[in-house]
Amino acid sequence: MSYKAKFKIWRGDDQTGELHDYLIEVNEGEVVLDIIHRLQATHAPDLAVRWNCKAGKCGSCSAEINGRPKLLCMTRMSTFTEDEVITVTPLRAFPVIRDLVTDVSFNYKKAREIPSFTPPPGLGPGEYRMKQVDVERSQEFRKCIECFLCQDTCHVIRDHEENKESFAGPRFLMRIAELEMHPLDSADRVREAQDEHGLGYCNITKCCTEVCPEGIKITDNALIPMKERVADRKYDPIVWLGSKLFKR
Ligand code: SF4
Ligand code: F3S
Ligand code: FES
Repeated sequence: MSYKAKFKIWRGDDQTGELHDYLIEVNEGEVVLDIIHRLQATHAPDLAVRWNCKAGKCGSCSAEINGRPKLLCMTRMSTFTEDEVITVTPLRAFPVIRDLVTDVSFNYKKAREIPSFTPPPGLGPGEYRMKQVDVERSQEFRKCIECFLCQDTCHVIRDHEENKESFAGPRFLMRIAELEMHPLDSADRVREAQDEHGLGYCNITKCCTEVCPEGIKITDNALIPMKERVADRKYDPIVWLGSKLFKR
């Protein structure tokens, strides 16, 4: 069964823009990205949208649908009523390049600021041994598709451009937590998270967890355990030294 859906789509560039109204055909089983593609094929061939896999795996098609951070390719049209007006806008936390495409380079900058896995001196590749339980503990975090929806929704930077310098955002604090959980990592990740990447700004609102399309429990399984380690350190610096010495 086909019907025509009312869309409001943000069109513009880094200087100016506005919502444009479109009436677009919808067919059974389609997702919002299908409608955007039909719009390009019919009314708006110059509409800019970033996408790649159309399977929820590349993390490219992130945008906001009715003000909520979503993947365009994983949002089914059947979740809206036929008379609902569907508003599609670019990610709010990042600068617009054009239409629905934003400049997400903030995230790549933050990724580069986190030192990679740091094994103990003298231990070479091939000599790493870790318990299955430690592998499983951080496995969840590796499902991240880097869609940056969690980064977009976190209020610390969503409404506060000035915090971007000192806050890495949930995706990258989760990366630091993953490294901290690695029994062979020898860097001081707790200090890194707190002093250089703004863990203290996070007040556990859990909005990041709510929007994660991979269902990663960012707050409960990464951010809160990191905060607990910060608290342990504050009261007892020996705890950190001991954990590094004895967990291997
Ligand atoms: Fe996207 Fe989830 Fe990764 Fe954040 S943690 S970038 S929401 S997949
Ligand atoms: Fe932001 Fe997630 Fe913390 S939304 S405030 S990083 S729990
Ligand atoms: Fe790849 Fe949507 S197009 S996640």
